[in-house]
Order: sequence, then C-alpha cells, then structure tokens
Amino acid sequence: MAFAFNDAAQAEFVAWEKKFPNDENGRRSLVIPALWISQKQNGWISKEVVEYIAKVTGTKPLHVWGVATFYTMFHKEPVGKNVLQFCTNISCSLHGGEELMKHACQKLGINQGETTADKRFTVLEVECLGACGTAPVVQVNDTYHESMNVEKLDQLLEQLTRS
Ligand code: FES
Repeated sequence: MAFAFNDAAQAEFVAWEKKFPNDENGRRSLVIPALWISQKQNGWISKEVVEYIAKVTGTKPLHVWGVATFYTMFHKEPVGKNVLQFCTNISCSLHGGEELMKHACQKLGINQGETTADKRFTVLEVECLGACGTAPVVQVNDTYHESMNVEKLDQLLEQLTRS
C-alpha cells in the first residue's frame, strides 16, 4: 500500500527541511529525520516508506535503504505495539540483562526478534543504550527502564498487557 506523510508528519518534515541547506548534501541529510518521522507514523520502514522518503528527499531508494539498515533503531519489519529492547552489552550482561531478555521471551512465548501473535510485544536484543550506570536497561518504545530486575520486568509486562 502506498505511503505518504499525514499532516502532522508533513509539518514535522517541513520543520526539518528548514534546518538543512537545500542542496544535494542537505537533502541527503534529511533521510534520517524522514525515517524517524515515517517510523513514528507507520510503525516500521516498509518498501513503500523507503520509496516515499527517496521521493521527498530527492535521493535514491537504495540510499534510504542503506541508511535504514545501518541503524538498528529503524524497524525493517512490522513490530508490536510495545517494542522491548534489551541491552546485552557488557554492563547490562554483568547485571543480568541476558537473563531478563530470556525471562521476557519465556513469558511472552516468543524468541528474540519476534512479535507476539496478538501484536502486543516485540522483543529485540540491542547494543549499549548508553545508560550503563543504571544497568540492566530495557527500553520500551521511547522510554528507558533502568536498574531492572525480574520483579520489575514482571510488573512492567503486566502493566503493558493491561494498557
Ligand atoms: S551496556 Fe547496557 S546500557 Fe550500556
């Protein structure tokens, strides 16, 4: 299905356009904001989104796809309503980050990288989230949950299941 910015996304994109020179480099620089805006609207970066971004930034779909695939924060497949990102880098691993991710997967009945059948949860293993001092960290959509443990994770899952 074709993709296009809705009014809010279009307004956000226009605001970003004003921050960059209107030349080839400036237009290429708009790809990352356009990916963010599109993901917020569409939930993930589909082929149609890539083509649309290439059109509005005057770049090539291959360039847009290259940027999208370079950054793990852009979802290249549909994700659930709640994207649980478990950091398993060194600080988080030393504080039980991997066990937390396995616990979540077991509770939700999915593997890392998968989405529950009801589309409510996606579990992803990610690199350092930059909050090593409060490891282990779980990011749910745009919100960090720090100094996590199994009890807090259970409460969080419970709360997200009800919302
Ligand atoms: S290692 Fe997990 S936030 Fe840095």
